[in-house]
Amino acid sequence: MKILSVVGARPQFVKLAPIHKATVAASVEHVIVHTGQHYDPMLSDVFFDDLGIGAPDVHLGVGSGSHGVQTGAMLGALDAVFDEHRPDWVLVYGDTNSTIAAALSAVKLHIPVAHLEAGLRSFNRRMPEEHNRVLTDHAADLLLAPTEVAVGHLANEGLADRTVLVGDVMTDVLYEVRDAVASTPSPLVAGSGLEPGGYYVSTIHRAENTDDPARLAQVVAGLAALDKPVVLLAHPRVVAKAAAAGISLTQGALVQHAPLAYPDLIASVMASAGVVTDSGGLQKEAFLLRVPCTTVRPETEWVETVDLGWNVLVDTAEEIAAGVTRPAPQPTDVAPYGDGRAAARVIEVLADRAR
Ligand code: UD1
Repeated sequence: MKILSVVGARPQFVKLAPIHKATVAASVEHVIVHTGQHYDPMLSDVFFDDLGIGAPDVHLGVGSGSHGVQTGAMLGALDAVFDEHRPDWVLVYGDTNSTIAAALSAVKLHIPVAHLEAGLRSFNRRMPEEHNRVLTDHAADLLLAPTEVAVGHLANEGLADRTVLVGDVMTDVLYEVRDAVASTPSPLVAGSGLEPGGYYVSTIHRAENTDDPARLAQVVAGLAALDKPVVLLAHPRVVAKAAAAGISLTQGALVQHAPLAYPDLIASVMASAGVVTDSGGLQKEAFLLRVPCTTVRPETEWVETVDLGWNVLVDTAEEIAAGVTRPAPQPTDVAPYGDGRAAARVIEVLADRAR
């Protein structure tokens, strides 16, 4: 069996790592195609290096652009790659423009497509990720769902017969990295003079929070007013948007910091008092590490984190403050995101169903 993975953005490299490891363990041929959607070393290369993926086999070098320009450039480049490799499966990950481009290109070439992390829904049609998820799920031949909730969403859309519950591969990589960094101090504690438990980790990068200057100013003011230092691991998008709007990312409690490599991020979250984010993956990572999370969004795809009390959804500056200072959540052993062995299950399902 030959699997061809298409990835392009930071969260996809994290999901790729356990899949790649499982292909090696199962002696399955695995071709890795990087679209080039993310190209800064701290958003791309460090993940391939730190998580043992090696280098991609093909790099399309597409880079940034408007949604249509970026997605179209990927589509234009992928046909020839798929034609050359003719894999048994094209595997697409998550909900970025790289995901929809690869799904669309493969389905038109009649190459079976599997969607990893299928069935997530925010039901917010203004989110680019929501368009990408829905369209990818309906184009794909096999829907690899991370949770029971995702399975339910797919059934509601008439896609039950293409769906398999495999668990969440981010749990696989998180548990492995958590154990590996257990005795390594966070670089924020070792290098920036912060105390364990004495700071919050924050990431803000979604278009809904960054692209309107008034909204960005409100979020930044909320972070700046918090009661402990807030280390903002600043994605290039928020840096660019803040600079253009004349908004300082170092005001009040805010400490601006470059994005971290994955092991450093996990060590930093583990040593923090809490996470404030609009990332999908980080909400779940905080939950799996049992660190309280405050999410600056009107909804989340990872509803289990909220239902179990480890995550709250907030909007205004006042709500951000109330979220991070809320009482500690109730301990729980519930494991909605699987057992840390999802990637091996994915490879088994793909092998069973390869034509
Ligand atoms: C993309 C995904 C989002 C995911 C996020 C993870 C889409 C629609 N969005 O958002 O779902 O949560 O990745 O980080 O696919 N830039 C750089 N260097 C880079 C990459 C981007 O400077 O390596 C800057 C450019 O100014 C670019 C902007 O960031 O225009 C946005 O990048 P883009 O890839 O379009 O989307 P993200 O915001 O990263």
